[in-house]
This record gives sequence, structure tokens and C-alpha cells, in this order.
Amino acid sequence: MNMVLEVDAIHTYYGKSHILDGVSLKVGEGELVALLGRNGAGKTTTMRSIMGLTPPRQGRIRLFGQEMTGASPYRVASMGVGYVPEGRKIFGHLSVHENLLVARETKGPWTIDAVYKLFPRLHERRTSKGGRLSGGEQEMLAIARALLLNPKLLILDEPSQGLAPIIVQEVMRTVGRMKDEGISVLLVEQNAFLALQLADRAYVLGEGEIVYDGSAAELSADTERMEQLAGVAHAA
Ligand SMILES: Nc1ncnc2c1ncn2[C@@H]1O[C@H](COP(=O)(O)OP(=O)(O)OP(=O)(O)O)[C@@H](O)[C@H]1O
Ligand SMILES: [Mg+2]
Repeated sequence: MNMVLEVDAIHTYYGKSHILDGVSLKVGEGELVALLGRNGAGKTTTMRSIMGLTPPRQGRIRLFGQEMTGASPYRVASMGVGYVPEGRKIFGHLSVHENLLVARETKGPWTIDAVYKLFPRLHERRTSKGGRLSGGEQEMLAIARALLLNPKLLILDEPSQGLAPIIVQEVMRTVGRMKDEGISVLLVEQNAFLALQLADRAYVLGEGEIVYDGSAAELSADTERMEQLAGVAHAA
């Protein structure tokens, strides 16, 4: 399998705080990989390291087989990596349509028309301000914006966060559809139960170190590990 992302023993710091202590993970072409872990484990820091927002001080990062250690966020995005950060970061004072217009559109199948087809609700609400959307709609808008980049790899940081359970299901179906569209996905989730329903493989991060690396099915069958992961409690 061709690797789209290879993270090799990275160490990332915020000032003097040593957050990631030799994290390694891979995403293969067409794979949906879950990165799980409790609050503060270092999931967002791992995403930020990959995106070049908080570059690691040690270790290597390769994208599509190319050395990218220390590359700027702009270069990482230009390589075809879409990033939907925690908290969605859409423009609340702009309309849905304006939010899409200011996203960087690149050549490929994902155009504004195509994302409206994928998310008819965004089309219905195209004149509404981003800040007036529901949490689920904001998440769809954030994913739609990332799609306009025509990414080969999509990195999603807790898309289910703060959403009502019924909306979470819908957002997760959307994530599954990204994979069906041939996009490789790295999905960060606190809700292990949901993420493992979609994922091919999973990593669990505990305090800056990978403590599980294996198939999603195997992890979801491991009651003890699942109980250790926060979020399992509200799986029902
Ligand atoms: N800007 C920052 N400066 C200093 N420490 C930080 C900063 N951002 C995060 N941290 C610390 O780094 C550790 C990992 O945080 P990170 O946000 O990566 O965790 P996470 O797994 O994404 O957690 P959550 O599930 O709550 O989103 C935590 O101990 C956090 O307090
Ligand atoms: Mg986080």
C-alpha cells in the first residue's frame, strides 16, 4: 500500500512542555485511520505537528512519500492535505456562500457546486451567516471548505464535538463518504465507539505516546482498552 502520511518518532513541544514523546503513525492510500485518546493526550498537537503549525523538534514527517519535516502549513496544504481544526473555525460573520468563496479552491472534482450537492442543507442555508448555523451545519461547512482544496488526505479534529447524537451520526456518515470518494482520512475522535465503526485502523494516544496500534475491529472488541478510553461511557 502506498503511504500518504508517515509520521516517524516526532517530539513536539509548547515552549518547555514536552508534549509528544516519539509519536509514529501512518495513513495508507484510501485508508480511514482513527487517532483516539483522552482529553489532553496530544491528539490536536499531533495534527498541528503534521500541518506544520507546531513543527516537531525531533522526528520526521513524510507526505505522499515526500520529506515534509519542517514544512510550512501553506506547503502542507498545497500538497493536498485538508485540515478541519477543532472548533471548526468558520467565519461567523460571513454567509455560508461567502465562507465557501474565501476557501482556497483548487482544480479537481470538488467545486462549490459539488459541495452543495454533497450537502444540500448548506445550499438551503447559503445566505445564512456562519454564526447562525447549527453545530452540525457548521461542521459540514468546515468539511466543505476543506474539500474545495481537493485534498488527497483529510485531517479532521473531533468533528463530533458538541453535536447532538443524531447530528453526530450524520456527520460520521459524511466522514465515511469521504473515504468512499477515495480520500484518505485521519480522524481524531474522543468518541472511540463511533470512530471505530468507520475506521480501518486505529491508534490510541496516551500522554504523548502511542499505546495502541492495530485494527479498528480488534480495538473495539477489546473491552478493557475501550473502557480506558474516555468517551466510551456515552457511546449509547
Ligand atoms: N498552546 C499550548 N501551550 C501549552 N500547552 C498546550 C498548548 N496546547 C495544548 N497544550 C497541552 O498539551 C497537551 C496535549 O494537548 P492537545 O490539545 O494536543 O490534546 P488533545 O488530545 O487534543 O485533547 P482534547 O481531547 O481535549 O482536544 C495538554 O496537556 C495541553 O494542556
Ligand atoms: Mg484536541
